[in-house]
Amino acid sequence: MSGVRGQFTTRAGFILAAAGSAVGLGNIWKFPYLAGQNGGGAFLIIYLGFILSIGLSVMLAEFAIGRRTKRNPVGAFRHLKGGAWTAIGVMGVFTGFIILSFYSVVGGWTVAYAVKSATGLMASGDAKALGAAFGAFIGDPVEPIIYHALFMLATIAVVARGIDTGIERTCRVLMPVLFILLVVLCVRSLTLPGAAKGVAFFLSPDFSKVDGAMITAALGHAFFSLSLGMGTMITYGSYLARTTNLPGAALWVTSLDTLIAVMAGFMILPAVFAFGFDPGAGPGLTFITLPAVFSKIPFGAFFGVLFFVLLAVAALTSAISLIEVVVAYLVDEKGIARPKAALSSGIAIFLLGIPSSLSLGIWNDYTVAGKGFFDAMDYLASNILLPTGGIFISLFVGWVVFDKVMDGNQGGIGDGFRYVGLWRIICRYIAPLAIAWVLISGL
Ligand code: PFF
Repeated sequence: MSGVRGQFTTRAGFILAAAGSAVGLGNIWKFPYLAGQNGGGAFLIIYLGFILSIGLSVMLAEFAIGRRTKRNPVGAFRHLKGGAWTAIGVMGVFTGFIILSFYSVVGGWTVAYAVKSATGLMASGDAKALGAAFGAFIGDPVEPIIYHALFMLATIAVVARGIDTGIERTCRVLMPVLFILLVVLCVRSLTLPGAAKGVAFFLSPDFSKVDGAMITAALGHAFFSLSLGMGTMITYGSYLARTTNLPGAALWVTSLDTLIAVMAGFMILPAVFAFGFDPGAGPGLTFITLPAVFSKIPFGAFFGVLFFVLLAVAALTSAISLIEVVVAYLVDEKGIARPKAALSSGIAIFLLGIPSSLSLGIWNDYTVAGKGFFDAMDYLASNILLPTGGIFISLFVGWVVFDKVMDGNQGGIGDGFRYVGLWRIICRYIAPLAIAWVLISGL
């Protein structure tokens, strides 16, 4: 199959696709509510610390493994070393399955809310009523599952078309649109009367909120937000031309992801404070308080539709990268045709998402490890599987295949990387030890 493997056609196309993977619900929906729950600025600082100290290095490691091997994560580990290391790739494919199953449920909510915003959701500005409406919607046994199906269909449709005409073209158009929408909404939020309190909350750290659970959440979120630890960036790197500078690309993608998370904080938290809502409201923050905010501003329904379209776009470009890990595996390793691989894995992921959706309603009483199915999936993937993947990817690059991934003649990083010594130390010691420490103290 390797002869017909797709490729990104330009460096910018690659960076936008990888940034499209990184920038998603994690940045715009999860990050503001996690910051809201975990002391605002304190969470921001710890999160940024993890991004810089670990995230950037793991991203480079994934890009390098991918481009060097031109394979999906399972094939990449098998090709470079094989043996037990292959299990890291298998775990990545499995994690992609799990994340996309619940991610697509929330992706469906964003589509539903774009529709609802256009059809009168913002008519009532009462946060209680909006909260009840949100609870009723996500708890409904049918409606959110239909939107989950629609969202999966869109994801399948893009990925079935391949790398350049599917993923790259979609991200090249949608990512700039997303950025413009975000700027417009940031300006709107920051110019509301009373916005300054939200800015202060976001920027002034309250370190009394720092504890083990919060540090685990910040690390898990760093991995989730950068799409690291499951081979997404190995997969995207495998479609990348030899000429692209990998450390530069990693820096670009990490910076764009961080910029957009911080912008999302500036879009949501000032608005929440301006209207006296609770920043610790959790997952509902985006879907309850923001419609309430929109209902109170001129052209609110317009901004509401804009916002949820933005969220849907961000979610879609991430979802395609999640399913691409599974699809690349099926195409490379099993020789299955791309459209068929996309459709069959998409259907399986859709089915796995159903209990996540139902766990927010009629299956509320069933718990896994003390959590509802949806929360259990999220916790398992974000706080356990991704960081564990990160440990092994770092160790693998730092100790086992360092020379191979550096070899520029074979698609590795090549000469001219100034921080190679530091990167190696991070991969060998700092990242694995820090992640292991956080994981263990979190459990
Ligand atoms: N990074 C995406 C987000 O922040 O929403 C989610 C994600 C995509 C996680 C791809 C993991 C992944 F492999």
